[in-house]
Amino acid sequence: MEIPSTDDRAIWDLWLSQYQLPVVLAAEQLGVFECLRQGPATLDELCDRLGLLRRSAAALTATLAAAGFLVQHDSAFQLTQTARLYLLRDSEFYWIPMLGAAGYGHMTTEALMRNLRTENLGEDDRVTVRWERGEMSPQEAHAANERFHSHSFPSALGLARSHDFSDVRRLLEVAGGSGCYSIALALQNPKLRCTVADLPPVAADARTYIAKYQCEDRVDTHAFNMFDDAWPTGYDAVLMTNILHDWDPRRRSELAASAFSALPSGGRMFIHEILLNDAQDGPLPAALFSVMMLSTRGKQLSFLELEELAREAGFATVEVQHTYGYYSLFTATKR
Ligand SMILES: C[S@@+](CC[C@H](N)C(=O)[O-])C[C@H]1O[C@@H](n2cnc3c(N)ncnc32)[C@H](O)[C@@H]1O
Repeated sequence: MEIPSTDDRAIWDLWLSQYQLPVVLAAEQLGVFECLRQGPATLDELCDRLGLLRRSAAALTATLAAAGFLVQHDSAFQLTQTARLYLLRDSEFYWIPMLGAAGYGHMTTEALMRNLRTENLGEDDRVTVRWERGEMSPQEAHAANERFHSHSFPSALGLARSHDFSDVRRLLEVAGGSGCYSIALALQNPKLRCTVADLPPVAADARTYIAKYQCEDRVDTHAFNMFDDAWPTGYDAVLMTNILHDWDPRRRSELAASAFSALPSGGRMFIHEILLNDAQDGPLPAALFSVMMLSTRGKQLSFLELEELAREAGFATVEVQHTYGYYSLFTATKR
């Protein structure tokens, strides 16, 4: 009997990957990250402070260190910069609201099978049904903004530093959620004025973020349903971030057409997304994000798909640049 021609590490990695997110969420719930923010701790100190079983704590710390969230020096564990930035509760970039959210942090094969098998999960199951109707309570809007803010603020700051927006005077951010992109762009570009347009309770909640970053004089909000209501005009650019990936081709075309109509000659439509490659076979994060989008009506798009969308809407020139992390900025200009 011959050994398999390729070893089975990829299968082991796949099998064991199921623990990666639960380990981080459990460690957060147990207070591991908050405990280590005070300073390094040995395994025994961590167990004493948090009342953990030694064997359990050892399993957690080994995994968290191997995954890049802890580092060990002289037998004491401490937080890495990644953990400090994204896993501590008072960080501006605290990701746990999104990592731990029901439906995001708890994907099961059963849930995926339902998403794979049908375009219509029923009246309330698919978030886009309610988004389309504009159904959202203030509490839901607050929770959604909290999740999307943690998910998007780093890439918003990354975009603001990687692309020159100094020639944009007025920017309309469509479906801007917490407004983190407008805030980041306004902070970086003193002459820029932005409007965060979203469903009424989301736009109302965005004002707390705008106030927090003291941008009220240059970032305002507009409450609307982007499918039913006229888009405001007077802007020289439209920005949509993580929006096209939620919608089917018809809705995506409507959004591109509305952007085109709202813009003057020379106006630009900016799309910030994690792009699939043009062959549609990777990279893996974009492909997995596209699987997540099965719970919406959309998918991650490639440059070629965005180009086709923009040209069909009437835009004359298109370009793309990598910006930050996994994100790229697609720009289409109206002649
Ligand atoms: C995936 S989140 C993206 C938020 C933000 N652009 C970001 O990158 O973090 C989708 C956003 O679309 C908004 N949205 C969904 N349907 C909408 C509609 N019909 N009209 C206006 N905004 C809508 C949601 O309220 C939410 O803020």
